[in-house]
Amino acid sequence: MAKAGDPITIGTLKLQNRMTMAPTVKFDYAGPDGMATDAHVRHYGERAAGGIGLICVEATAVTPGGRFWKNHMGLWEDAQIEGHRRIVSACHERDVPVIIQLNHTGITANPDCGPAMGPSAVTARETGKPAEEMSAAQIREMQESFLTAAIRAKAAGYDGIQLHGYHGYLINQFISKKTNLRTDAYGGSVENRARFAAEIIRMIREECGEDFLISVRTAGIEPDVETAIAIAEEYVRAGCDYLQVSTGIEWEDSSVADTEHYNRFCSLGVRFHEHFRGRVPVSCVNGILDPETVQYLIENDLTDTVDLARAVLADPAFPEAVLTGAPFKRCLECRSCQYGPGMPHKCPRQMVRQ
Ligand SMILES: Cc1cc2nc3c(=O)[nH]c(=O)nc-3n(C[C@H](O)[C@H](O)[C@H](O)COP(=O)(O)O)c2cc1C
Repeated sequence: MAKAGDPITIGTLKLQNRMTMAPTVKFDYAGPDGMATDAHVRHYGERAAGGIGLICVEATAVTPGGRFWKNHMGLWEDAQIEGHRRIVSACHERDVPVIIQLNHTGITANPDCGPAMGPSAVTARETGKPAEEMSAAQIREMQESFLTAAIRAKAAGYDGIQLHGYHGYLINQFISKKTNLRTDAYGGSVENRARFAAEIIRMIREECGEDFLISVRTAGIEPDVETAIAIAEEYVRAGCDYLQVSTGIEWEDSSVADTEHYNRFCSLGVRFHEHFRGRVPVSCVNGILDPETVQYLIENDLTDTVDLARAVLADPAFPEAVLTGAPFKRCLECRSCQYGPGMPHKCPRQMVRQ
């Protein structure tokens, strides 16, 4: 029986245990230049010191137009590499591997940052504004932006990248039939809808080599689990080493439900793990806030790794608590850390600490 503290190999990376830090954007840590700051370095260094097995740095924009808002970290130009080197050092000094999530907002683009563009000219619920349909040339240019951001990530010392492939952003917009109405090679069948990201994976693999981890945070349901798994199979065929699973744009599958030990979002990862077992490691995420939940998922072979967001925002030493039984500051589930007008964007647990 596997334990949370057991090492695991993901791609060619050796993790000291089976707990990973999920990408969690730090609101306003970066300025409009998109540079990583001292606050980022301190934040990730503290999490690395807390015993986590792998860190995935937050959603990072591959072009200025793909930012969530103006103060959002980026990797769209070489000048941004140096700041990322410092984040990487803060993790590697503690022997913790670190990857970075690459993203573009697509049709949900913030109008202060750039034009909304995506697979089709649909109106995003989030902004109420119609998007521009990307031409074949714009698709290629966007894929190049993901590639050059990955090359910069490698230059900064990251051990790999994660494509942000769910939660309704650009890659997810290509896979969802709700936002992708194309009739060319990027729309229609599963293979075509997965093509945008699959080609990016192949491009990164070719440029960055076999030792550079390529993971995808993918929609576990789009609109059902079976289709979402078929999409992920395309990513795996293209060379994806690791799958983190959460929600997509559409949820039309009543077979996925909360269980006694973990919630329905986490159930999606469990379903993926059943399917990809022994071929590609899978991570569950969502609502894993107690050591017991971590242990239940790992010890019952329901997932390869657990991805922790709010648990390690509330207490960077949560992984140590799982491993040693030490006391920890549990997430209050107050959502103060999350995006929203009037939100403090800070964890009250951390405010107490500061
Ligand atoms: C403050 C905050 C920022 C987040 N930023 C990102 C992000 O940059 N990329 C991403 O894929 N998910 C992001 N998420 C989602 C988390 O990675 C995770 O999927 C979600 O919080 C559920 O996990 P949890 O129950 O462990 O918090 C964010 C969540 C929070 C709370």
